[in-house]
Amino acid sequence: MRQLLPHSIRNTMRNMRGYHWLLCMFLPLTVNADISILPRPVSVQPGEGTFTLKADTRVIADNAAQKTAQMFTSWMAPSTGYTLSVAAGKGAENTIQFALDPSLARLGDEGYLLEVTPKRVSIRAPKEAGLFYGAQSLRQIFPPAIFASTLQKDVAWSAPAVKIEDQPRFRWRGAMLDVCRHFAPKEFVLRFIDLLAVHKFNTFHWHLTDDQGWRIEIRKYPRLTEVGAWRRHTRLGHERNPKGFDRKPHGGFYTQNDIREVVEYARQRHITVVPEIEMPGHAQAAIAAYPELGVTGEQLEVWPRWGVNANIFNPSEKTILFLQDVLTEVLTLFPGPFVHIGGDEAIKDQWKASAEVQARIKELGLKDEHEMQSYIVRRMDKFLADRGRRLIGWDEILEGGLAPGATVMSWRGVEGGITAAKAGHDVVMAPTTHVYLDYAQSQEPGELPNIGGNLPLEKVYSFEPVPAALTADEARHVLGAQGNIWTEYMQSPGHVEYMAFPRLTAISEVTWTPAAKRNYEDFLKRMRVHEGRYRALDLNFRPVPDAPPAAPPAAR
Ligand code: ACM
Repeated sequence: MRQLLPHSIRNTMRNMRGYHWLLCMFLPLTVNADISILPRPVSVQPGEGTFTLKADTRVIADNAAQKTAQMFTSWMAPSTGYTLSVAAGKGAENTIQFALDPSLARLGDEGYLLEVTPKRVSIRAPKEAGLFYGAQSLRQIFPPAIFASTLQKDVAWSAPAVKIEDQPRFRWRGAMLDVCRHFAPKEFVLRFIDLLAVHKFNTFHWHLTDDQGWRIEIRKYPRLTEVGAWRRHTRLGHERNPKGFDRKPHGGFYTQNDIREVVEYARQRHITVVPEIEMPGHAQAAIAAYPELGVTGEQLEVWPRWGVNANIFNPSEKTILFLQDVLTEVLTLFPGPFVHIGGDEAIKDQWKASAEVQARIKELGLKDEHEMQSYIVRRMDKFLADRGRRLIGWDEILEGGLAPGATVMSWRGVEGGITAAKAGHDVVMAPTTHVYLDYAQSQEPGELPNIGGNLPLEKVYSFEPVPAALTADEARHVLGAQGNIWTEYMQSPGHVEYMAFPRLTAISEVTWTPAAKRNYEDFLKRMRVHEGRYRALDLNFRPVPDAPPAAPPAAR
């Protein structure tokens, strides 16, 4: 895999190797080089000595902390072979204690305090989510092999003494997975959620409907998945340089039971699932299932190509009620506050050409097709608000006027997010410039197929979700950021992993760690250790560039 690295980086790496030893000799022993937590915690104070996990280590948790403690022991079991018992009690020698502690309210809903001494470990947090993140940090203090799914022999499971106080910078720390362009089996979705949890993400945005496939069972409209979940064949080569089609049917969908399982699995890992049901564009699979939802009435096929096409839902009252029926079922499956209604790349040509749509625009007193889209979004906004939920959509929902309760996901740069935040709306930053993980990771030969562009790790890491153009008050509307994984050119879970990692790890630090604590060189150094965790997890990651040489030690 090294051949993927440019010469300059490889040379730097060689130079650094010799130098690194020298540097280590000067490091005072109290600086604990073994602590490499991703994302970087707010405060890490190394202590003296190590705690060693043994077969007879006891895990202590009262009722409220039991679930997290059990989850922690389930992570430890495969690699260590220890079946650690969890019981109520007091922290004593050779124990790991989990405890809710209301006196730590200053750490917020997701913060924690982790203390490791040679005698015992304690994780305390005001809320369960904090305990969970404390457990994730503790997991990363042990040798990387602890992440393996098989028994690791002859490893001393020691953790250096440390005191960590930590809480996230943003409340929306997310990743979007497109399961429409290529269907992701449920088992991979669950694995992806575990990978998100390792990195303290709390939001999984599940892109469930698009031109190339409708992936969520809707009981009232069975053809959405009977027809809309399957395409005849798929584009070969890049859409810019197409090489015909593959002659292989592709498809799949999640039953409502599958969805419940995924949502519950995520909930146990403190991850909220945000479903996305695209409207009014990216609708061809739905129109293929029910041609009356389209504008032309034509029987379309589920789209086998990539890019954007002109097929769009007609904006009739019947279609709006259909979409609300779909959302009604969606709401029973996804308990989280947000529902994503898409809204991007809705080409209005068919609306412009249709006498019926033009009559509707006139009848509703709307100015143009943008206001027509805005009308649909407002109807969905009210529908969701009446049911206690919040609408989120791509930044095109600003065009034609933003619905009163809408949150904007800014993808065409951060400008849409700035406009929305200035207008008092919440925003999530997900610009193509920094977090589109379908873009190439380098311009070197040997990258796996991708949509194009160039988004190396360092650029992802440099992302600042709060634009300087916002005042402090406006900046409070930036809920956070997320990485987006569009899967046109990713045919397998392994390919998704390669595009996602390590860049998603960088995004975890962008969204968790205080801006002042972010440092790319330090990140790369910790990534050296984190790669060991990736390997233990059997992750198909792209090799991480080497850290540039550290500055020479200061004169003493
Ligand atoms: C998008 O990338 N079309 C939201």
